Amino acid sequence: MQRTLVKDALNATSPADSILLQGWVRTRRDAKAFSFVELNDGSCLKGMQIVVDASLPDYPAVARAHTGAAIEVNGKLVDSKGAGQKWEVVATSFKVTGEADGTYPLQKKGHTLEFLREIAHLRPRSNLFGAVFRVRSRLAYAVHQFFQERGFHYVHPPIITASDAEGAGEMFRVTTLDVGNPPRTADGKGVDHTQDFFGRKTFLTVSGQLEAEIFACALSNVYTFGPTFRAENSNTSRHAAEFWMIEPEVAFCDLHGDMDLAEAFVKYLLRDVKTHCAADLEFFGKFVDKDLAARLDFVLEKPFVRCSYTEAVEILAQSGQTWEHPVAWGDNLQAEHERYLTEEHFKCPVTVYNYPRAIKAFYMRVNEPDAQGRETVAAMDLLVPGIGEIIGGSQREERLDVLRESMAKHHLDEKAYWWYLDLRRYGSVPHAGFGLGFERMLMFATGVANIRDVIPFARTPGTAEF
Ligand code: 4AD
Ligand code: MG
Repeated sequence: MQRTLVKDALNATSPADSILLQGWVRTRRDAKAFSFVELNDGSCLKGMQIVVDASLPDYPAVARAHTGAAIEVNGKLVDSKGAGQKWEVVATSFKVTGEADGTYPLQKKGHTLEFLREIAHLRPRSNLFGAVFRVRSRLAYAVHQFFQERGFHYVHPPIITASDAEGAGEMFRVTTLDVGNPPRTADGKGVDHTQDFFGRKTFLTVSGQLEAEIFACALSNVYTFGPTFRAENSNTSRHAAEFWMIEPEVAFCDLHGDMDLAEAFVKYLLRDVKTHCAADLEFFGKFVDKDLAARLDFVLEKPFVRCSYTEAVEILAQSGQTWEHPVAWGDNLQAEHERYLTEEHFKCPVTVYNYPRAIKAFYMRVNEPDAQGRETVAAMDLLVPGIGEIIGGSQREERLDVLRESMAKHHLDEKAYWWYLDLRRYGSVPHAGFGLGFERMLMFATGVANIRDVIPFARTPGTAEF
């Protein structure tokens, strides 16, 4: 007999004489003549109430169906007399396929998130994490849907790379050399990387952007969606060493087109989750962030504010706030500034654009100097309440001479980026793109406050247990 998922059984339009459910026991309550078992199979937030009559030949097995045990139930789907559910299943057979004893850690409700991180192998069976990972799955699907509907092609940049896409040096090394006793260069001073697996120094990628640019300059509209790695030792609620990023790249597009795409993308994802994960979002609204539904509606209805970096610095200077990091033109915006702009000043998502050239990556397109001769690049960051930056992007420098000058300013070796420079030698076009941190988007969509709780197995400094 074919298994029915709880989600489909709960959505049934008519009773059924015989269905098979398989899942895990959430709770059990024994009365004199029968037992109630709540079966959850992760297909949706809710479980199915199973009624097992004491006269059933399989009834003795119910005594072994403790919280956490795996069970298999055949039965009739009937109208439920209980409150809170339309259907219940009256068992005709009941089997425990995997027992769980009193040491099962998810016995009661109300575990802390910190404790649940320590049992990352079991936390998907809790209500909260079941909901998080269903939303994560749906959101990933919506990412593809958004781009595929618009004629974007999905490209797969390499995970192992020899180049630093951000030029920030925050990369994990990849090597098969014996790190305790590596081969030495002729002068004995350095490590001889020509003897390493790839014949050179290699790393885990920090971004697929440079490769996406290659493909945009051939297929026009592309996007990546994959894991990226950063060895930045920042132990915050918004940084992970391994996270997923979506990076669209568009040929014949400028910064304004890029900001339009970013706004449409964020709204599309939120709308999709609202439509397809309603029950899970309701759960987050109740137990995680009571303002969630109102915030999502607000974000969906209003256009995002756009504000140049120069304007942003003026707003911050005139805010009357005392900053931990005082900000003057030329400084990087810190999290406190970003959050002030989006949470206090504009009270909505804000795209800040045209940042000082000196604080941004080498590949960003250089703007005309402003009236005071200050240099900016066509960069943008999308900031949202509660999180800060969820998107970083830019128009790319398509002029060979300007790009070479920027690389020199960043002390980058042209030889290592020869193929990137070639894109400007052969058929160069204005192009732009951005990166959305998938986990940050999930935090925004669910209200979950720590990045460790929206990724199945968080990689943060000192943590790689599971
Ligand atoms: O702003 P970032 O560093 O931009 C890039 O990597 C560009 N190559 C993107 C592009 O233009 N194609 O990163 C983009 C986004 C950030 O806005 C943030 O949401 C996320 O990636 N992100 C992180 N998420 C979690 N943990 C980290 N350590 C992150 N670093 C960046
Ligand atoms: Mg950024």
